[in-house]
Amino acid sequence: MSKNILKAEKICKSFVTDGVVNNIIKNMDIEIYKGDFTVIMGSSGSGKSTLLYMLSGMDKVTSGNVYLKERNITNLKEKQMAEIRKDNIGFVFQNMNLIPDLTVRENIVSPAYKSRISKSNVNEKVEELLQQMDLKEHEHKFPSQLSGGQKQRTAICRGLMNEPELLFADEPTGALNSSIGENVLDIFTMLYNKGQSIVMVTHDLKAAARGNRVVFIRDGRIDGELDTGTFYKEDIKEREIMLYHFLSQRGW
Ligand SMILES: Nc1ncnc2c1ncn2[C@@H]1O[C@H](COP(=O)(O)OP(=O)(O)OP(=O)(O)O)[C@@H](O)[C@H]1O
Ligand SMILES: [Mg+2]
Repeated sequence: MSKNILKAEKICKSFVTDGVVNNIIKNMDIEIYKGDFTVIMGSSGSGKSTLLYMLSGMDKVTSGNVYLKERNITNLKEKQMAEIRKDNIGFVFQNMNLIPDLTVRENIVSPAYKSRISKSNVNEKVEELLQQMDLKEHEHKFPSQLSGGQKQRTAICRGLMNEPELLFADEPTGALNSSIGENVLDIFTMLYNKGQSIVMVTHDLKAAARGNRVVFIRDGRIDGELDTGTFYKEDIKEREIMLYHFLSQRGW
């Protein structure tokens, strides 16, 4: 068994709306392992984004504990948590969340503000990312001047800027047409092959087949898990078929 980077123990999340308590995540145990490309699936509203926010320390759990590299991060103050996130975690949001008044380059660099990376390394890193993601010629554009794929690639670069131990991505292809979506998925595959640990939420079977582990969530609980990693080197179609069976058994 490989080493866990992140471990959540009996985590719960409840929201109170109009005096009614909704339990969204219920006593969930989950571990995320180093070097894995973990995929989280489940129907709309099943709590995938909520789970990602808790695992990445962007939102508090209602109860339970979260450990990042064996350190309990559950009850840290926001300021401390922000430091830990900056050094360990990258996040690509479901709606990208680019800052409209900042250029592509400025958006990408924004997490490096006060990070452990030195100024000269920041410049080097942003150049590397712009080249790698084919954004160099767009670096001075604003988000409103970009295509969907370019926006998403900018959001991914921003998530990678601080060289995070763990990259979270919430539906990174959800807003893209299929060929641009494939292109973004190729980026995730490339990152995974380079050893980046990734946790990605998706609705899409083809996207999910890029991972080596798929976790299916239903009704606030883990309803099943599939290790596609053993098939990883083989044809992607084979993994898609395996995954299709796994998902159909769960009424997907
Ligand atoms: N801040 C909040 N306040 C109240 N309810 C919330 C809040 N955030 C999420 N919820 C509720 O929690 C449930 C899960 O939401 P979540 O966004 O985690 O779902 P999801 O699985 O990511 O869905 P999708 O696939 O549509 O993105 C939904 O019923 C949602 O209405
Ligand atoms: Mg969501």
